[in-house]
Amino acid sequence: MKNSVIGLGKLGLPFALFLASKNQHVTCCDSNKKIIRDLSNKISPYIEPLTSKYLKIYSKKITLENNYDNLIKNSQITHLVLPTPSLIDNSFSNEYLLECLDKLSKSLLKYKNKSHIINITSTVMPGSCQEVFRIFLESKGLKNEKDFIITYNPHFIAQGTTIKNLENPDFILIGSDSKKGKKLVSFYKKIYKNKVKISLLRTKEAEIVKISINSYITTKITFSNFISEVCENTKNVDASLVLNAIGRDHRIGNSYLGVGTKYSGPCFPRDNKALHYFTKDKIKNSLPKFIDKINNSQTKRITRMLKKIISKERLKKFTIGIFGLTYKDKTSIIDDSQSYDLIIDIRKKYKANINTHDDNVEPNTQFLNKHKLIFFKNIKKFIQKSKILILMYPSKKFIKSALNSKNKIIIDCWNVIDEKKTNSKVYKLGKYL
Ligand SMILES: NC(=O)c1ccc[n+]([C@@H]2O[C@H](COP(=O)([O-])OP(=O)(O)OC[C@H]3O[C@@H](n4cnc5c(N)ncnc54)[C@H](O)[C@@H]3O)[C@@H](O)[C@H]2O)c1
Repeated sequence: MKNSVIGLGKLGLPFALFLASKNQHVTCCDSNKKIIRDLSNKISPYIEPLTSKYLKIYSKKITLENNYDNLIKNSQITHLVLPTPSLIDNSFSNEYLLECLDKLSKSLLKYKNKSHIINITSTVMPGSCQEVFRIFLESKGLKNEKDFIITYNPHFIAQGTTIKNLENPDFILIGSDSKKGKKLVSFYKKIYKNKVKISLLRTKEAEIVKISINSYITTKITFSNFISEVCENTKNVDASLVLNAIGRDHRIGNSYLGVGTKYSGPCFPRDNKALHYFTKDKIKNSLPKFIDKINNSQTKRITRMLKKIISKERLKKFTIGIFGLTYKDKTSIIDDSQSYDLIIDIRKKYKANINTHDDNVEPNTQFLNKHKLIFFKNIKKFIQKSKILILMYPSKKFIKSALNSKNKIIIDCWNVIDEKKTNSKVYKLGKYL
């Protein structure tokens, strides 16, 4: 089956490259000229492992195209990987998808009777495929089943491991209200050489599954953070040991069960909030709403610990060093990250200098000035100039430097630093202080 991909962002580009690596020819389109320019020069527009490598190896299989007629003519399936930003009420906007479907409908009218598969890969609110997109295309004079079908096919990936996740999925989720949706099942069976589990559901069911999986993970992280907080308030217990033992029960499992900061990033918080939005008029006690509330209180645990340490160590003048600005390693997203929250919270209470370091981003001066931050490119200097070091995401590089440090105070939010191997003092989230 010939593919086209519209939207070459943080998910769309890795997905197109993944298809290309499976010997598929992919016609690709993005409205952002810089992205197209970068891709024409085989440069990855984002930091994402394997993307640059795959661009060099597989770009022969990719055709960049901005003419929708050619896109429809040269493919049987079009994957739409467009933004669906959260609106103020926490539901997802269909604006980009509808704008694109409007343009696509003109080309679909020229190449009728082909049952072209419009495969929605973007995360959408339950009901969107049938109640919004199908009706929209029909209003343009197109016939469902005859001229097009709509399928829903989100991918479960995490930034930093997108291509790896696409290559080794736990399962493939396909929503289709048409028998022709089976074509997509055959397509993926071929791609994965029959070695993948496929769930074929109705579109609305699949739409619910997508946001529910992320909401389950946010619930597990929040449970983990709750137990960690329980241990933090109990003498002589170590949250990591407790959580590790809990996870050994096969009904629970160890993934996402460990000491850490709040969950953040572009998917978890918004999918959780969207599930709340979807259920709010139907169900009185909303689990996702409660999870969100607990999550938003997590950063305060770090500031409370900081306050106790400052008083315990009798620190009068100190410089705080925040390691990690993005929400996780190997991504460049700072918005709403745990560090962003922490900076805002610390700034409310302390006038101290705040030093920052992150290998993944170099924040612009506007951001640094707004929060009165100093950014160090060099980790050695960053550590040298900071008294209190706060580790905001697990990083091998930081662990190595922290272990070599002397006379520092380290707040380890991920329980990854062995306090016996360093000449600095280590405090851990999840341990009584
Ligand atoms: N990135 C992730 O980790 C991730 C994970 C799971 C699901 N998703 C979902 O996938 C969707 C896309 O996310 P993303 O992170 O790749 O977004 P993104 O903003 O990185 O990329 C979207 C791309 O679409 C392009 N675009 C917008 N309108 C266009 C149009 N009319 N024609 C052509 N191109 C257009 C933009 O220029 C951009 O490059 C969202 O619904 C998101 O929720 C993302």
